[in-house]
Amino acid sequence: MIHQLVYYSRNTVPGGDRAMLTNMREILSVSQRNNARDAITGFLIFDTQWFVQILEGERGKVTETYNRIARDPRHASATILNVRDVPARLFPNWTMGGAMRTPDVQEIYLAHGFGGPIDPTRLKSEQVVALALDLQAFEESRRQGRRLAS
Ligand SMILES: Cc1cc2nc3c(=O)[nH]c(=O)nc-3n(C[C@H](O)[C@H](O)[C@H](O)COP(=O)(O)O)c2cc1C
Repeated sequence: MIHQLVYYSRNTVPGGDRAMLTNMREILSVSQRNNARDAITGFLIFDTQWFVQILEGERGKVTETYNRIARDPRHASATILNVRDVPARLFPNWTMGGAMRTPDVQEIYLAHGFGGPIDPTRLKSEQVVALALDLQAFEESRRQGRRLAS
């Protein structure tokens, strides 16, 4: 069984889009290195004010990783939405995929009922997983397109 944890937290890094993009890139780069070592996969959604993340892997490693993340001063009020065991990874190809909310993914947010900013207090973990799966599919097709074009 694969352990899966879904949480949200509030971004504490100030600044405009550029600062946020840099922040997101730094987080993803360290995450990809550590998660490859710990066999953690998942997806990080960043909606300017809020982070929502799915972590999956061996139970002990997921807990250890979450505890480390929760202490990070780049966000606050980390709140677990759900933990469960799943038969297989949902994000097998991503040590940590991530998507900042940009205009090109707005349609995906809309399709999941997020016209405006995410309100994490009303989020259901299944909704998060469904949104992340579609964002993942979008990112994968975009990468595929880049490969074909080069
Ligand atoms: C929203 C958010 C998500 C993060 N996700 C991960 C993650 O999936 N894996 C990870 O190792 N670190 C993640 N981090 C970074 C950790 O908090 C921490 O800085 C990092 O693991 C420290 O790694 P190091 O000891 O190798 O420098 C995240 C940080 C934030 C703010």
